[in-house]
Amino acid sequence: MASDIDKSTFDRYWQLFANPMLVNPTNQISLELKTLDSPLNWQEVFGNDRLVEIEVGSGKGRFLKESAQRNPDINYVGIERASKYFEKSCERLAKHNITTARLVYCDAPYFLYRCVADQSVSAFHIYFPDPWPKKRHRKRRIFNNSIWISELVRTLNNKLGEIYIATDYKTYFWEIRELFDCHPSFEYHPDKSTETNYIPTSFEIKYRKQGLPIYRAVYAKL
Ligand SMILES: C[S@@+](CC[C@H](N)C(=O)[O-])C[C@H]1O[C@@H](n2cnc3c(N)ncnc32)[C@H](O)[C@@H]1O
Repeated sequence: MASDIDKSTFDRYWQLFANPMLVNPTNQISLELKTLDSPLNWQEVFGNDRLVEIEVGSGKGRFLKESAQRNPDINYVGIERASKYFEKSCERLAKHNITTARLVYCDAPYFLYRCVADQSVSAFHIYFPDPWPKKRHRKRRIFNNSIWISELVRTLNNKLGEIYIATDYKTYFWEIRELFDCHPSFEYHPDKSTETNYIPTSFEIKYRKQGLPIYRAVYAKL
């Protein structure tokens, strides 16, 4: 995705993304997102009015599975744009009969922009976002897109909204920190930015085994 694109280009890219969908992994019922003419109603999606937390780039679904098992009173949504990982996470959640999670096959900024209602998300979990280390690729970083940041602000709940971030990539981490520290809608929570608040993702387990440091931050919406 190009960095800092305007909204009409954004709309065009949405048209190009093949078959974005929301799936309930336990019954395989799927909703084609391009057929929506208004944002998703989470109450209809989950059949209850519990809080909704979204994981961005949910990979093979480890975090979603563990979190859903530990927190049965929360609804989870994982967004994944790689079909291989999307399918793997569907299988994982189905195997463990996780009824409180849904998976979205889509690019996360487009999904928020097109399908998520104002203030309808209580937390975002963004773990090990692709760092695109080559200089010429950095524009692809999700946090380099201003529409992404404004969509996080718009969709997060004003009273409860939190963003959880973790990465092994130090320079990217400090760029993200700077972005949020300078943003008037967010406040850093050092007490929450600790290991104990996190359920390790597959990437976290891998990097820990390699002895790499993990950088974390939690921000609350003001
Ligand atoms: C480095 S992996 C981390 C996976 C998982 N969060 C973990 O910690 O194990 C990044 C994942 O984010 C997905 N991803 C990257 N950009 C995305 C985007 N814009 N929308 C949805 N998924 C994205 C990739 O396909 C990949 O599965």
